[in-house]
Amino acid sequence: MEDIFVSSTNSYNILVGENLLKKTGYFIKQNINNAGFNIVIITDSLVCKIYGGVLKKSLMEFGFSVFMFAVPNKESSKNFSCLLEIYNFLVKCGITKKDIIIALGGGVVCDISGFVACTYLRGIRYINIPTTLLSQVDASIGGKNGVNFGNYKNLIGTIYSPSLIICDIFLLKTLKEKVFLSGFGEVIKYAVTFSKELFNILCEQNKNIYSHLKDIIIRCIKIKKNVIQIDEFEKNIRTKLNFGHTIGHALERYFNNSISHGEAVCVGMCYITEKSVKAGITSLYSFLKLKNLIKKYNLPTALKFNVEDIFKSVLKDKKIFGNVIRICVVKKIGHSVILTMPILKFRKFLNM
Ligand SMILES: NC(=O)c1ccc[n+]([C@@H]2O[C@H](COP(=O)([O-])OP(=O)(O)OC[C@H]3O[C@@H](n4cnc5c(N)ncnc54)[C@H](O)[C@@H]3O)[C@@H](O)[C@H]2O)c1
Repeated sequence: MEDIFVSSTNSYNILVGENLLKKTGYFIKQNINNAGFNIVIITDSLVCKIYGGVLKKSLMEFGFSVFMFAVPNKESSKNFSCLLEIYNFLVKCGITKKDIIIALGGGVVCDISGFVACTYLRGIRYINIPTTLLSQVDASIGGKNGVNFGNYKNLIGTIYSPSLIICDIFLLKTLKEKVFLSGFGEVIKYAVTFSKELFNILCEQNKNIYSHLKDIIIRCIKIKKNVIQIDEFEKNIRTKLNFGHTIGHALERYFNNSISHGEAVCVGMCYITEKSVKAGITSLYSFLKLKNLIKKYNLPTALKFNVEDIFKSVLKDKKIFGNVIRICVVKKIGHSVILTMPILKFRKFLNM
């Protein structure tokens, strides 16, 4: 098992390995000081059926009282009525400042649970147990949380670190292929923005991707850890981790969540890079390499959409500061920069 320490406002460890879920009770005793007796597991309806029992058993073995709340397993669960149900549940269970929330699920569960943990009683501790590739390499790390609002992605949220992350690679075995591959959207994002080495590893993979998965996941975690240790609250370099996301989030809204987050990010990365090639920022060679890698993981590189509709959604993006927008573009594979441009210039950029 690898133990990765993240130094941030609330520092925490990320445990990465196989078969860790059933040892969760032990890891909590080892890593969390002065934990209360109660634990609330927030999960989704599908993950609850597959893994809820194993987790509950492991916690009870260590003397915890366990309560479980499952949201429907879809993106639309990231909403206010779901939050209210969870707050009601916490009150009913008598959860206090000392108690702990565990998020057991993909990015949807991580995002809701982090927000609940940050706001309930002005903040209680929470542990992420990410169960999708996307949440293991990205959504569980760095404390960003939130819900969608008025159909705009993650409009309401905070940055509030977990107290521990348990990243059990075995859990990925039950993922549907499409959900598993969607996680490569974020993996490719890390590679193209920060690591030529990871990019080459991804290019070299043959059919047996599982044998290299742990190494790939650890590389991604370490990239994110290094970024958030420098810029936890996204004042500068953390913006790079949003490569492809400004367009990607708008696409998720445009297609009413019928495409996955990973798919949307891939189309977003390609769209922005196509424009940055036209603007003379990126070489055509790097763009073609990016597109080929995305195709290799059976993810989309383009979709038909109305650019003006996407631009209108972008106006609600968190990367807008007054009348300028901050976006990440890739100069060459493994090397990215942040551009700040007036929003009207960005509109032209999108229409190039
Ligand atoms: N906070 C962040 O930093 C951050 C970063 C990236 C993405 N996100 C958010 O993450 C969300 C997407 O996350 P996701 O791709 O994990 O989707 P998800 O959480 O919706 O999970 C996808 C599907 O996989 C199922 N599933 C999860 N784990 C499983 C397992 N082990 N076995 C079988 N089925 C399993 C779920 O029930 C669901 O049906 C988006 O809302 C996105 O905005 C957040």
